[in-house]
Amino acid sequence: GALWVSSTDGRIKGCDWQARDEVSFKALLARNGWVDIDAPEANGSDGNEVKVKIVIANEERNEFFFPGFIDTHIHAPQFPNVGLFGSSTLLDWLETYTFPVESGFGVQADQSKGTGKLPKDAPPSALRIYDHVVARTLSNGTTCASYFATIHVPATNALAALCHLRGQRAFIGRVCMDNPDFCPSYYKDISADDSLSATRSTIEYIHTLDPKGALIKPIVTPRFAPTCTRPALEGLGKLAAEYNPPLHIQTHISENTNEIALVKELFPEASSYAAVYDKYNLLTKRTILAHAVHLTPDERSLIRQRDAKISHCPASNAALGSGIAPVRVFLDEGITVGLGTDVSGGYSPSILEAARQACLASRLLGHTTSFCHTESKQTLQNGNSDKPTLGREKLTVEESLYLATRGGAAVVDMADDIGGFDEGMIWDAQLIELGGVKDLGDNDNPLDGQVNGVQGLVKTGPVGNVDLFGSETWQEKIHKWVWSGDDRNVKAVWVGGRLVHSRS
Ligand code: GUN
Ligand code: FE
Repeated sequence: GALWVSSTDGRIKGCDWQARDEVSFKALLARNGWVDIDAPEANGSDGNEVKVKIVIANEERNEFFFPGFIDTHIHAPQFPNVGLFGSSTLLDWLETYTFPVESGFGVQADQSKGTGKLPKDAPPSALRIYDHVVARTLSNGTTCASYFATIHVPATNALAALCHLRGQRAFIGRVCMDNPDFCPSYYKDISADDSLSATRSTIEYIHTLDPKGALIKPIVTPRFAPTCTRPALEGLGKLAAEYNPPLHIQTHISENTNEIALVKELFPEASSYAAVYDKYNLLTKRTILAHAVHLTPDERSLIRQRDAKISHCPASNAALGSGIAPVRVFLDEGITVGLGTDVSGGYSPSILEAARQACLASRLLGHTTSFCHTESKQTLQNGNSDKPTLGREKLTVEESLYLATRGGAAVVDMADDIGGFDEGMIWDAQLIELGGVKDLGDNDNPLDGQVNGVQGLVKTGPVGNVDLFGSETWQEKIHKWVWSGDDRNVKAVWVGGRLVHSRS
C-alpha cells in the first residue's frame, strides 16, 4: 500500500490500502495506524503542492513507517535526574530529587546577550537542558509531547520556543504551586495571584509564538492538589475556561497511597481526590490526569462522565513503587488512555519503553487480586487461578502501540489529526529501521561458512532486531521491535511533513 503527503500542509492526501477492512493481523495494525510502505519519492504536483508518495514497508531494507509517538506526560526540567531516584517513593522523591533540580531553572539570565529567536531572559542552563530534552525525545520518535516545565516563566517560554524551532508538536505547562504548607520555601509561587498571572504570561507568550497553535499550545498546569491552594485551583479552572476553545489542563492524580492520604487531609471537604479537581472545573475533556494508579470506582465514573483523559506512566509507577494502574479496567469502562514517560519519575525518555512497560505491568497485574477485574477476582477466589480469564488484564503489543499513538492523540484531544495514517491526518511519522544480518559475499568475514553455511554474514543497521534467516513475519518484526528496540531503530522523524530528526 501507499499514501501521499502534501508539501503544502503536511497532511495525508490519499491512500490506496484496504487492509482496514480485512480481519487479519495487518488490519489490526492498520487500525492502529500502521500500513505497508516503501521509500519516499516525489510524485507529481498540482500548482505548488507537491504530493510525496510514501510506500510503507520495505522488506528488502527491513524498514517501515510508523505514526510518531505521543508522550502525554513528561517533565522537561527533570531530565538531568534521569536514573536518580534511589529507593524513594513519591513524596520524599519530590523533596529530595525533584524540587531541587526544578528550582535551578530560575537563575537570572544575562539579558545583554542576544539569543535570536529565543526569549532574551531565558537562563542559558535552561536553554541547554531543554534543547537536549527536545532533541532526545525527537530521536526516540516522540513527535508530540505534553510537557511540565517549572514555575519560572522565562525558562518555560524558552521550552516553548525550542520546541517551535526544532519542530516538535508540544503542549507547554508552566507549573503552579502556591501552597506554603506543602511547597518548599525555595521553590514556590509567592501567592495564588502570582501563580495565575505568571500562568497567563506564558499563555500569552505561546499565543504570540504560534498564534494558530499549529505546533505549540499552552496547557494549564496545577502540579497536583497538595501544591495548590483553593484560590489557585479555582483561578486555574476559570482561566482555562476563558479561552475559546478552552485550554488544555494537566495534573497528577492518585499516584501513591501517601499522596492520597495527604489530599484527604488537605481537602477534608472533598469526597475524593478526583472530586477536588472537579470542584474547581479542572476535570474537562481536555484534562490529562497522570498516573491514576489507585482511583476508586466512583472516581473512574466521574472521570468518565467528564471525559477527562488518563496518562498511563508504567515505568515511573514501577520505579517509584507507586503501584500498577488497571489499564484494562479504564479501557473497558470507556476512559481514554495514552502513555507517558513521566521523566524523571520514569527513567527513560522513550515511549517505546513506556509501551513495553505497559505490557509488563499488565502481565504482573494479572497476578494480584487487589485490582483485577471482578471476573478475574472471582476466578481467583474460586481457586482456579490459572484459568484464562486471569489473562484479561494483559495488554497485547498491538494494544500498547495503540496507546502510544492513537490513544495519546485522543488524550491530547487531537484524534482526528495525529496518531495514525488516515487520509486528512497530519504526517507526524517515524521511519523505523530494524536492521539485520546480510550476506555481503565478501568472503573476508570470520563467520564465513559458520552460520548455516551462509557466506559473508555481517550485521547491518542497528542492533536489537536481527532477522537471521530473513523469514520473520511483520507481526514478529513488530513484536521484536517493541520488546527489544530503542532509539537506534529510529532512522528519521517528521512532524507536519517536516523532517525534524535523522540518525547520523
Ligand atoms: N506529583 C507531583 N509532582 C510530581 C512529579 O513531578 N512527578 C510525579 N511522578 N508525580 C508528581
Ligand atoms: Fe509526573
